[in-house]
Amino acid sequence: MSNGMRSHYCGDIRAGDIDNNVAVCGWIQVRRDHGGVIFLDVRDREGLVQVVYEPDNQEVFDRATNLRNEYVIRATGKVRHRGADKINPRLATGEVEILGETLEILNSAGGLPFTLDEYSSAGEDIRLRYRYLDLRRPEMQKRLFLRSKIASTSRTFLESEGFVEVETPTLTKSTPEGARDYLVPSRKNPGHFFALPQSPQLFKQVLMISGFDRYYQIARCYRDEDLRHDRQPEFTQIDIEASFVDEFEVMRVTEGLLRSVFERTLGIDLGDFPVLTYSDAMECYGSDKPDLRIPLVLAGIDDLVRDLDFNVLARPARDENGRVSALRVPGGVVKLSRREIDALVDFARDHGAEGLAYIKVNDISQGMAGLQSSILKFVDEPTIRAVLEKCKCESGDILFVGAGHSELVGDFMGALRVQVGHQLGLAAQEHRACWVVDWPMFERTSDGNYTPAHHPFTRPSCSLEEFASAPHEANAKAYDIVLDGYELGGGSLRIHDVQMQRAVFDALGMGQEADVKFGFLLDALEMGCPPHGGIALGLDRLAMIVAGADSVREVIAFPKTLSATCPLTSAPSTIDVGQMRELHLDIRGRK
Ligand code: AMO
Repeated sequence: MSNGMRSHYCGDIRAGDIDNNVAVCGWIQVRRDHGGVIFLDVRDREGLVQVVYEPDNQEVFDRATNLRNEYVIRATGKVRHRGADKINPRLATGEVEILGETLEILNSAGGLPFTLDEYSSAGEDIRLRYRYLDLRRPEMQKRLFLRSKIASTSRTFLESEGFVEVETPTLTKSTPEGARDYLVPSRKNPGHFFALPQSPQLFKQVLMISGFDRYYQIARCYRDEDLRHDRQPEFTQIDIEASFVDEFEVMRVTEGLLRSVFERTLGIDLGDFPVLTYSDAMECYGSDKPDLRIPLVLAGIDDLVRDLDFNVLARPARDENGRVSALRVPGGVVKLSRREIDALVDFARDHGAEGLAYIKVNDISQGMAGLQSSILKFVDEPTIRAVLEKCKCESGDILFVGAGHSELVGDFMGALRVQVGHQLGLAAQEHRACWVVDWPMFERTSDGNYTPAHHPFTRPSCSLEEFASAPHEANAKAYDIVLDGYELGGGSLRIHDVQMQRAVFDALGMGQEADVKFGFLLDALEMGCPPHGGIALGLDRLAMIVAGADSVREVIAFPKTLSATCPLTSAPSTIDVGQMRELHLDIRGRK
């Protein structure tokens, strides 16, 4: 690797270079003084190499003596073997060292808020404020290289499948994906605003109407929503759309893309991609993004307990908005201590449960006498037997039982399933994907309104007549790809019929608003729109999972904090009065 200033990356020097003269550039990771000899660990993006300075050239030696951490240097010298007893097997360059001849200090460094090996005690705010230092760490470099590899693998795969990359605008009109928009005031059009896209959804549909047939884009999206470890206000999608396809073609392409990413980055075969319906996912896993690495399954026992004289279970079982769900933990009697069980009950409470019952199946052959539970006195033997049978319980199992409002029970039993599964090390595979299909078109919000479960351009599974007669009952031709319990991507077949699009806007109570907001789409649908569909995968989430990181912030070079700020640049920031005036803006209460 010769680029004028250097002959090699530090981390690339090997035994094959012994006796060669080399030039390396990089940062001082550590300087050690050993009785008149100076050892430098010099770091660049490929790794560390040891450079040794002996006192025979006093001027160079003095310069080496004055080096501090993170100084930027150029060193030349001859590569030599370290000597059998000095080999460092943890370093790729650990067999060799450079006997330094010259040393240039290219730049000094001082006032470091943290050294690269003690970064972990620096809070995230400090890491983000001094992100250039944080990103020097090999771990962060590896993650960003990995991200780049995921993006390039995706591009190569999609190009090989005939997809063409088209850029779509980021100063645009609102594209509803369920979040608030980031808005940009227009200087030329007083009182008018651009929206930053929540996704390229409408443009990619328009590109299908334009005949591009297969589009993709690694697209930046913006959503002003509450942030979490897997959500950023600004994030990247691998966005895909194709014409004349059914859902199986979009699913095939997506699977191929993910397979090639996992093979090229981790050398892992992702195995099969099971397909679950939305309602089965909610019933069996309590989640629309089930983590299938965990082999545990929830069982609905409403029918078995609805006639009991025990309201804690019977009432939710009878209530159409209620639910009683059981989770069998094989071998739980031995594997879970009393304290661990109590902690799981608290865990369920933290996730919204009023309480969590459990039955210890000590010895199933002994009937009631072989069981231990605080609810036994309220439940008759035939019911218990039926419940244990339905859940396929065996001696040694623990059965957790949750009851209450459906959504809540799904949430806490689903979370409990994942928690126990990980706690007991039951995850069978490192990574596991699945599809969730047959989504409802709409969800009910807390104020009783309807909102799209995906977005309002999603095609209902039924005919226009059926949709018009019971719009809020309709299911959608939508599919989500789930990986390790994360919603990795969402997609659908789209509406290509203008009447259906109007009917969906009507079902959302949009009236005239539909023409104001989406008139351009309604017009375009009438000018030869092919049937089409697509999907978008979250690149940040994919990189997080492949990198084994615990937050998307760890795979984004310059992420925002949880309060949507950038500590490096101090964005967002105020603007001056002149700019405000130019943009025709005023802030109420501003002095
Ligand atoms: P959806 O809204 O499901 O679909 O987004 C697709 C994927 O983008 C990722 N994602 C995010 N990643 C990080 N931070 C966020 N705030 C964030 N929001 C979403 C997720 C998600 O699964 N236009 C449709 C796609 C389509 O129908 O083709 C869309 O945007 O991984």
